[in-house]
Amino acid sequence: MSKLVAGNWKMFGDINMISEIKKIDQHCNEIDCEVAICPPFPLLFSANEQTENIKIGAQSCHVNINGAHTGEVSAEMLVEVGAQFILVGHSERRQNNNETNNVVKLKSEAVHRSGATAIVCIGETLEERKEEKTLSVLQEQMLSSLPTKVTPQNTVIAYEPVWAIGTGLVPETDQIRAAHSFIRGFLVSTYGAEAHNVKILYGGSVKGSNAKEIFSIANVNGALVGGASLKSSDFIEIITAASNSV
Ligand code: PGA
Repeated sequence: MSKLVAGNWKMFGDINMISEIKKIDQHCNEIDCEVAICPPFPLLFSANEQTENIKIGAQSCHVNINGAHTGEVSAEMLVEVGAQFILVGHSERRQNNNETNNVVKLKSEAVHRSGATAIVCIGETLEERKEEKTLSVLQEQMLSSLPTKVTPQNTVIAYEPVWAIGTGLVPETDQIRAAHSFIRGFLVSTYGAEAHNVKILYGGSVKGSNAKEIFSIANVNGALVGGASLKSSDFIEIITAASNSV
């Protein structure tokens, strides 16, 4: 399966950074993997207008199509300006915006309703890892926050250990392998054989220097990249590693 490398710009980036997206897009003319950039909402339209080879994604959405929800944006609105992916359940939103598993589930279903692909983020905290609760936390998050119907087209899972996000810390290869294999097992037993083709991304301090090793791990079908997606040269190193690992 070809890999997916998705960049999560979080609340970084101004209109001048569209030039970085263009550089990434030019690089992706003939590569063997799928690439997406999820910039802040105000950049989505321009990013989509100015790219041909990569996809554009958003970082969150509201559960409803429209309504009296001041400050919110629906999945349909994001699709209209070019989003093909929408992140849901990122740990920063679970922690800072009180997004529960149930809210994440409703948001993933909203993404499906809009026709975009949901990238559903799950992952344990350091405390949960130390208490050896990683797999049970992942199981609970998948049971309660995944949408009712998961297919390789409508859903991507991102395994992001909370303690690895923005810290420079990366789990051992065996820890990533165990988590991804557990996630695959859950998906296949819940959604059937088709779920062998649902992409499972690893996220948390992915860089050019560790990408090759991460992409060689079984059931790692790509990466969700924060910090290293903000500079085209850094992100291109990761894309190259993904493209070479097919
Ligand atoms: P990071 O962030 O690559 O900066 O660790 C990943 C993420 O938050 O998706």
